[in-house]
Amino acid sequence: MTETLLRGRTLSFLRWPDSVDDHAAYRYEEDGGLLLRDGTIVAAGPYAEVAVQAGAGVQVIDHRPHLLLPGFIDAHVHVPQMHIIASYGAELLDWLNTYTFPEESHFRDAQHGRRIARLFLDEMVRQGTTTVAAYCSVHRQSAEAFFAEAHDRNMLTIAGKVMMDRNAPEGVLDTPQSSYDDTKALIAEWHGRGRQHYAVTPRFAITSSPEQMEMAGALMREHPDLHMQTHLSENHAEIAFTQQLYPWSKDYTDVYEHYGLLGKRSLFGHCIHLSEREADAMSETGSVAVFCPTSNLFLGSGLFDYQRFRQREKPIRIAAATDVGGGTSYSMLRTMDEGYKVIALNGEKLTPFASFWQMTLGNAQALSLDDKVGTLDAGTDADIVVLDSRATPGMRLRMERVETLAEELFLLQTMGDDRAIREVYVAGRPAKSTMELAAA
Ligand code: GUN
Ligand code: ZN
Repeated sequence: MTETLLRGRTLSFLRWPDSVDDHAAYRYEEDGGLLLRDGTIVAAGPYAEVAVQAGAGVQVIDHRPHLLLPGFIDAHVHVPQMHIIASYGAELLDWLNTYTFPEESHFRDAQHGRRIARLFLDEMVRQGTTTVAAYCSVHRQSAEAFFAEAHDRNMLTIAGKVMMDRNAPEGVLDTPQSSYDDTKALIAEWHGRGRQHYAVTPRFAITSSPEQMEMAGALMREHPDLHMQTHLSENHAEIAFTQQLYPWSKDYTDVYEHYGLLGKRSLFGHCIHLSEREADAMSETGSVAVFCPTSNLFLGSGLFDYQRFRQREKPIRIAAATDVGGGTSYSMLRTMDEGYKVIALNGEKLTPFASFWQMTLGNAQALSLDDKVGTLDAGTDADIVVLDSRATPGMRLRMERVETLAEELFLLQTMGDDRAIREVYVAGRPAKSTMELAAA
C-alpha cells in the first residue's frame, strides 16, 4: 500500500457558482491536505485533520503556496491533428479538406498512431489535463494505439475511432459495415478496461451516409452506456451542405435525432447556430453542447451562446474543450480565457469561479464522470493539478495586487498556460515531473 499526502491550498467545486460571492459553491482550504492511496483520494480537508489519518510510511509532498485542484478535463479534442494545429487561413470545410483529412490519413500506420498518442497524452499532462474526450482517426489502429497508451498511463479517457464513409479522400474513409465492425471490436477490447471508455464517433453528418448513421444509432442502442460524440452546427456552409444531404430533416439537430443519437451521454461539438427548436431538442434529451472557443474564433465559425444556453427556460448542458487542432491551444486555461472573451462579445460575463468549475466539475458532470473525476472528494480518483499563480514575471507582479481567490483564479486563466502547471497527478502518481525527468 503506497500512501501520499499532498499539502497545499486545495480548491474544488460543489456546484455551479452563481457569482463571485457564492462561496457556498466551492470548498477551499488555505492549508489543505489530500491523502492518496492506490490511485484514490482517501481523505481531504484541513491538513491537520487529514495528516492524522496517514499511515507511518506516508510520503508527504508540500506544494504550498500553490493551489491543488481536480485535474482539468478537455471534452472534445482530436488526437490526429497535432501536426496541423496552427494551419493558416481557412474556414471549416476548406480546413478539413486542405489540412485535416490528408493529415489523418497517416494514421493508417499503427506506429505513427502510437507515437502521436504518446506525444498527445504527454502534452495533455504538461497542460494539467487529466481526462479527455478524444477523436481518433478513421483507422481502428489509431484508436487501439490511443487506448493502449492511455491505459499504460492509467489515464481516464473517453475516445473513439471516427466513423466516416463519404465526402472525404479515400485514405480516411471506412464503410458502414467496417465502421460498425471496427467499433464493435474496439468496444469489446477497450470499453471498461481500466479507466478507458468508448465513444461512438460519427465525425459529422456530412461525412456519414444515412446507412452509416443508422449503424451509429444501432451501436448506441446495443450499448446504451457508451458516449456518443460528433459535431453540430459549427459553420453556415456546413449547415447548408447538411441540409442538402438530408433534405427531409427539419434542421441539423434533427438529423442526429432521427438516428437516435441524442441523449445524456451525447456530446455535440460547437452548437453555434442552433435554432430555438434545436436548443429545445438538446435540452429535452439531456444532450451536451461542447464549447470550443479557440477553435470557433480561429476558424471564424461564430460565438457560442454560453449564457443563453444556461439561462433559457429549457437549459442545455454545457462542456468546454480545446478542439485541437481547429483549436489553437492545448491548455484549458488558455481555452477558458478565450471563452471569457467569446461570452463578453455576447454581452455576458463568466466569473472566474464558473470558469474553474467548468474545467473541473462542470466538465465531469457533462461527461457523466463526476462520481470519479472533477472533484477532490474522498473516494474519487486522484487526478490533481497543482497551479502556480506566480509562474511568470508578469504574473508574479500582478499577484502583488491580488487580494481574493477569485482575482487569483482570473489571473491564472487570463495569463496562465503550461508554465503555471507545477505538477499533475494521474491516479495518484506525479506524472508531469516524472515525464520531465525521463526527458532530461
Ligand atoms: N467537423 C467535422 N470534423 C471536424 C474537425 O475535425 N474539427 C472541427 N473543428 N470541426 C469538425
Ligand atoms: Zn472537433
